Amino acid sequence: MAFRTLDDLNVKGKRVLVRADLNVPVAAGKVTDATRIQRQAPTIRELAQAGARVIVLSHFDRPKGKVVPSMSLKVLQAPLSDAVGRKIAFAEDCIGPKAEAAVAALKDGDVLLLENTRFHKGEEENDSAMAKQLAALGDIFVNDAFSAAHRAHASTEGVARLLPNAAGRSMQAELTHLQKALGNPERPLLAVVGGAKVSTKIELLENLVTRVETLVIGGAMANTFLAAEGYNVGKSLYEPDHLETARKVIHMANDSGAVILLPVDVVAAKEFRPGAPHRTVPVAAIGADEMALDVGPKTSQAFINRLAVTRTLVWNGPFGAFETAPFDTGTVAAARAVAAATRAGHLLSVAGGGDTVAALAHSGVENDFSYVSTAGGAFLEWLEGKELPGVEALKA
Ligand code: 3PG
Ligand code: MG
Repeated sequence: MAFRTLDDLNVKGKRVLVRADLNVPVAAGKVTDATRIQRQAPTIRELAQAGARVIVLSHFDRPKGKVVPSMSLKVLQAPLSDAVGRKIAFAEDCIGPKAEAAVAALKDGDVLLLENTRFHKGEEENDSAMAKQLAALGDIFVNDAFSAAHRAHASTEGVARLLPNAAGRSMQAELTHLQKALGNPERPLLAVVGGAKVSTKIELLENLVTRVETLVIGGAMANTFLAAEGYNVGKSLYEPDHLETARKVIHMANDSGAVILLPVDVVAAKEFRPGAPHRTVPVAAIGADEMALDVGPKTSQAFINRLAVTRTLVWNGPFGAFETAPFDTGTVAAARAVAAATRAGHLLSVAGGGDTVAALAHSGVENDFSYVSTAGGAFLEWLEGKELPGVEALKA
């Protein structure tokens, strides 16, 4: 996929609009996970150092077209400034007179953060008047927000069509790794799909099963597959309405020659709470009053054996209820095995999606994968094989 990068731009003295994704978790006025800020700071710093007048755009939360003071981006001004290592000015609007005045005051190398783009209805409507107002603030548009690229909004898609554009360093890294992992991977390719529900990942499963050699199903969605195969899953979380979906994915695997790895043993408990009494049982022996809350050691071993013959891995979703010990064991074992294979140099590993990053962090290996995407929804849509409007608009 061809797109321009910062290497293709001459930015000195130019007004460069940078679409960042500063939609980070904030509690009591403090950023609780600064990963996205850290990933996007290099683009802003590089542009400022090259003498651009940098104007940062982002949404924050979901104010739905109204000014919601608790969703002001003002709270990100200091953390962003710390991450970039430069003073950053703030404008109380992202378009109109306040934004225009703040942009006019910039000197070469200055950085300005504009207020939440979603305070205007036109943002999510991808309104052309709003896109024009945004475009009027800059000479060049740089999109560094892969995690917002699944949204066709004025600040992600509309404005990109109106100005010379390029991918920022974070966007470039995301696209390069995702391309290596699923676009043109070294094979065999394995995908881990975990999490609670088949129903939220139907398109993802149907796309991946046609593209991988191995599809590993974990989390409560594995219970739906087990039920579809005729196992009694007791009180386990599963989706009776999606047995057909699971069967369809199994049929698709038979047609494409993909191997589906389902749990062969599980950690089962009668209650779901930290430290609940539990036992490891084959999937055929889940009690009527038990819930499967994690995969068992035989399943973990089967996964590890498969890793040894895998060259590329894509991971979305945990294997078990990893937030609640001891039901994190399967996820931790798998994550550590992937990290070890990656460190040993025989595996390219790419992970993404909200819960997934938390699961890797919990396993202490978030820095040992080849790449961990900062995207949630955009990563899922990309796994579904969908075009992302924010990325499409950058294609050279
Ligand atoms: C995210 O956090 O996944 C992105 O910032 C997109 O946010 P949204 O789901 O509110 O569009
Ligand atoms: Mg979200």
